Amino acid sequence: MPSRNFALIFIPLAAAFAQPAPADRAEALLRQMTLDEKIGQLTQLAGLPLIPDPVKIDDRVRKGQGGSILWLSDPASINRLQKIAVEETRLKIPALFGLDVIHGFRTVFPVPFAMAASWDMDLIEKGQQIAARESRAAGIQWTFAPMLDIARDARWGRIVEGAGEDPVLGAAVARAQIRGFQGDHLSSAADRMLACAKHFAGYGAADGGRDYDSAYIPDVLLWNVYFPPFKAALDAGAGTFMSAYMDLNDVPATGNAFLLRDVLRKIWGFKGFVVSDAFAVRDLQTHGFASSPQDSAQRALLAGVDMDMGSRTYLENLAAAVKSGKVPMSVIDDSVRSILKVKFEMGLFEHPYGDAALLAKVSRAPEHLKLAREAAQRSAVLLRNEGGLLPLKANAGQKIALIGPLGDSVFDTLGSWQAMGQTLDAVTLAQGLKARGVTVEVVKGVQLRKQIPSMFDQLMGGKPETPWTEAQAGEAFTDAVEAARRADVVVLALGELALMSGELASRSSLNLPGRQQQLMEAVVATGKPVVLVLFSGRPVNIGWAASHVPAILEAWYPGSEGGNAIADLLYGDASPGGKLPVTWPRSVGQEPLFLESNLTHQPEGSQMFSSRYWDQPGTPQYPFGYGLSYTTFEYTNLHIAGSGRVSVDVRNTGSRPGVEVTQLYIHQRAGGASRPKRELKGFARVQLEPGEKRSLEFPLGEEQLRYWNPVSKKWIFEKHEQFDVWAGGDSRGMLHTLYRP
Ligand code: NOJ
Repeated sequence: MPSRNFALIFIPLAAAFAQPAPADRAEALLRQMTLDEKIGQLTQLAGLPLIPDPVKIDDRVRKGQGGSILWLSDPASINRLQKIAVEETRLKIPALFGLDVIHGFRTVFPVPFAMAASWDMDLIEKGQQIAARESRAAGIQWTFAPMLDIARDARWGRIVEGAGEDPVLGAAVARAQIRGFQGDHLSSAADRMLACAKHFAGYGAADGGRDYDSAYIPDVLLWNVYFPPFKAALDAGAGTFMSAYMDLNDVPATGNAFLLRDVLRKIWGFKGFVVSDAFAVRDLQTHGFASSPQDSAQRALLAGVDMDMGSRTYLENLAAAVKSGKVPMSVIDDSVRSILKVKFEMGLFEHPYGDAALLAKVSRAPEHLKLAREAAQRSAVLLRNEGGLLPLKANAGQKIALIGPLGDSVFDTLGSWQAMGQTLDAVTLAQGLKARGVTVEVVKGVQLRKQIPSMFDQLMGGKPETPWTEAQAGEAFTDAVEAARRADVVVLALGELALMSGELASRSSLNLPGRQQQLMEAVVATGKPVVLVLFSGRPVNIGWAASHVPAILEAWYPGSEGGNAIADLLYGDASPGGKLPVTWPRSVGQEPLFLESNLTHQPEGSQMFSSRYWDQPGTPQYPFGYGLSYTTFEYTNLHIAGSGRVSVDVRNTGSRPGVEVTQLYIHQRAGGASRPKRELKGFARVQLEPGEKRSLEFPLGEEQLRYWNPVSKKWIFEKHEQFDVWAGGDSRGMLHTLYRP
């Protein structure tokens, strides 16, 4: 029986060579560590000297003080420091290099808000997989993404980094991004990276939309709205979470044991580790919460922040806190154990270095750029198309005037959070049109400037433009209007500069900045056909355009291949299918405006006592989920397809192929608490040929219909109640049925 003998020998050999489990490897390493080495693992050193440091970073790493390092992006510096960590420290533990790879590294995808507007989870996953492949080749193993903060107020600048207002869409996008970065749960593959679900939690609800301001969120909204994307990320295997900067209900999120211990670990069972936001541990003192640096360190660690990002507060204070008995060694050990376990799980010990040759090979690889182009096509949202002006007919001799400050700016085509330290490269709309052979005259018309620039403008925005004089501004404006007169069709490229949204980029108004509104009105007054292409990271006030400009396409910040993609859309080589991930207000005064508000004590639209302003309709400019196509779709046959399932038919009734995002909404008519008047519960993105019909089925059972009840403080499913169900191409979904599960 030779085969049996062979098996007997083979099994013990295999067992001898198999690596112990990550948890066991972490435990074994932990047992050898001194307190200082442990605190070193809890420390993330800043690769950019935003806080002066008398000690050189190389020396800190050599002493084992750099469990992680942030903000480096070139393989040479990364590998130099990694070599010190791996070869010169006593325990040879590799450092984890982290960077904000938010929407691509060398290949830049549309900003996250735009990617969410594609409602295309496969695309989102693949985009982040490419980001991981390129970053990991550079030696960056950890991204501070995805940002999962629900945002319902467009004044908040960081709305651009998330998936918008909705918890169901937000959770789907969270899952797709985590899978894209990390693979299936936390893969140890050398082309995946560790993800970080941020900012836990409630950062998007900053008072008045002012970045970093306090958020006051009742439990009912935390559980039903703000937490679900984080829970989805955790279920998809997110290895790390980041605590937020602001106070949540008067307790800084970085010192908030309710968030980081009770919810994240006890209730949800998170087994990864938590990093603070940059300098947030130190800043517990400026919040008026901690009394000293040591108090900050103690309170953050005890609340559940395992790693201190950038501030060296743990490094300088935790040893004393342990020695004085304020912080038990077991708490330090728990944090170190989680960090080491993640490092083992993700294969950092096996693949600690970047590889410049590999980076050169994978950077902006043709298939990466191809996907970036498709992503920009799929995330654009067609807001208006009167008289079928779009797609443009490519007539020989046709002259286009491309007018506006955003038509030919590489930086602003890419959007905020272009991975730091890169040579910027993007196809602008002007270049995209020219590449198609279109005759185009490019005129800026107006110059955009922030009234109050931030540190990020200096850090990331490069050299600011010299401001135009009054005379130059007047001349540029006149030139633009004259260019419009000379053209057959005008494409207006208006909106906001890339850094007008993002961190530290909140606004008090949503108007088009600068003289763009006047420019648009002057151009429209020439009588030429006008297409408005908007570049923005948030809804802006386009009330006038919505009734005077025949075609409006929201391009967001479309990334590396943006100009090619927008040109494809303008000429019909691609068809817009994006849908708004947010309710688009008529004016800033309506904010926060979102789909999931409750009904009031009088029926909607009644003259008495209903929710309203006297100077403006209460309805949005465009509803959540809205977006047009070059074709049309019809919905029929919405019905309950057996227990816990709903079905609807969608048909392409136009003459062009197109993509539709079918959306399913519900309202619970009565029960233990008032429920929102409409809630998204499912969606599907379908490509349909002219005349083609598809039946779509959506689950609608306990998982979709339960909610966190503010009275019992539990998740409940009131299955004896009646539910309205709507289906359609946006949140107005007209097709209705009633459902009692
Ligand atoms: C501060 C931001 O809030 C956070 O999102 C980011 O990841 C860190 N800085 C690191 O750059």
